[in-house]
Amino acid sequence: MTDFYAQALELFPYSQAMRRDFHMHPELGFEEVRTSGIIAEELRQLGLEVSAGIAKTGVIAHIEGEQPGPLLMLRFDIDALPIQEQTGAEYASTIPGKMHACGHDGHAAIGLTVARLLHANRHLLHGTVRLAFQPAEEGAGGAETMIKDGVLQNPAPLASLGLHIWNEAPLGWLGIAGGPVMASAAGFFIRLTGKGGHGAIPHQAVDPVVAAAQIISAAQTIASRNTDPQEACVISFCAIHGGEAFNVIPHTVEMKGTIRTFSPQVEEMAYRRLREVTEGVGRAMGCEVEIVIDNITPAVINDEDTANTVKAAARLTLPDHHIEEKGHFTMGAEDFAFYLQQTPGAFFFVGSTNEEKGLIYGHHHPRFDFDEGVLPRASALMAASAVEMLRKAVGA
Ligand code: NI
Repeated sequence: MTDFYAQALELFPYSQAMRRDFHMHPELGFEEVRTSGIIAEELRQLGLEVSAGIAKTGVIAHIEGEQPGPLLMLRFDIDALPIQEQTGAEYASTIPGKMHACGHDGHAAIGLTVARLLHANRHLLHGTVRLAFQPAEEGAGGAETMIKDGVLQNPAPLASLGLHIWNEAPLGWLGIAGGPVMASAAGFFIRLTGKGGHGAIPHQAVDPVVAAAQIISAAQTIASRNTDPQEACVISFCAIHGGEAFNVIPHTVEMKGTIRTFSPQVEEMAYRRLREVTEGVGRAMGCEVEIVIDNITPAVINDEDTANTVKAAARLTLPDHHIEEKGHFTMGAEDFAFYLQQTPGAFFFVGSTNEEKGLIYGHHHPRFDFDEGVLPRASALMAASAVEMLRKAVGA
């Protein structure tokens, strides 16, 4: 195996410069005009044929190997978040209220570094690598729009790979596993309609505030009493709105929250039970009940063979690493799941915290920042995994 890590270290000044530039100029989902413009230009400078404007602000390019073989897709997300940065870094966001607080600036830089690594090692590639730079991962439907725009067609990829810089673990840690690695995400919305009235005359009203309290309590049993203790299920009520005055029982209460699970069976059960509990308790308390559950992303479920290939590539490529193989890495969600519903593949995590440097804040925190040592590590691992996947596919 070529020493991709040594090559990635040589490219570090490039990776870092790209990352810092993206970091200083964050753009939200489907607004990544500057970011994708730079990505497209960098890829063109490598001599690649580039399709821009996929899913509005996405970019696709292909690297043709020197040997025949199938097509493999590598996906990198590029969007930022509506957060005011508080890192104080010299390369901090220059845009008020917007920040790369999830590390997608790093993913964009890693994608460009992988493009350079694979382009320089075309002789090792059996087939074609499709680089897919995806907008709007943070809940706005980037992956689904990329799929609608044909990223999984002409031809369909043999498999797809994605990664996340991971600030839940130190540099050197790798999360690579088959099976479920990230949870599904659903949002729910509940409206309870009672009958408003005077706070001192409750018997003439139907109080939706008390009903809401009972529903929130009862819903805790879905995770604790209805879910197999060896499975995972999170139901969080994250917003509750009702009433204005201290002495008025309001007419309605609205609540919002999220459901996270790893398996379709638990997901189906959680949806059904939340409906039953909400409708049953709400009606028993005399309210009209409206509940909408919106399935946002499925769980990220990795293919075992692909995960094993990535593990093998890690062992061959990266020094001083520790591979965590148990899966179920986070109840967080990721729209890479949509690609995995249509092609096999794997999504893996590359540890990026550094306690000594104070780089310890989690994703979506206003002080989120990562150790840039993750850039060459992740780039080398992705490039090596791509070469290995295609080599295995043709039996070379
Ligand atoms: Ni992210």
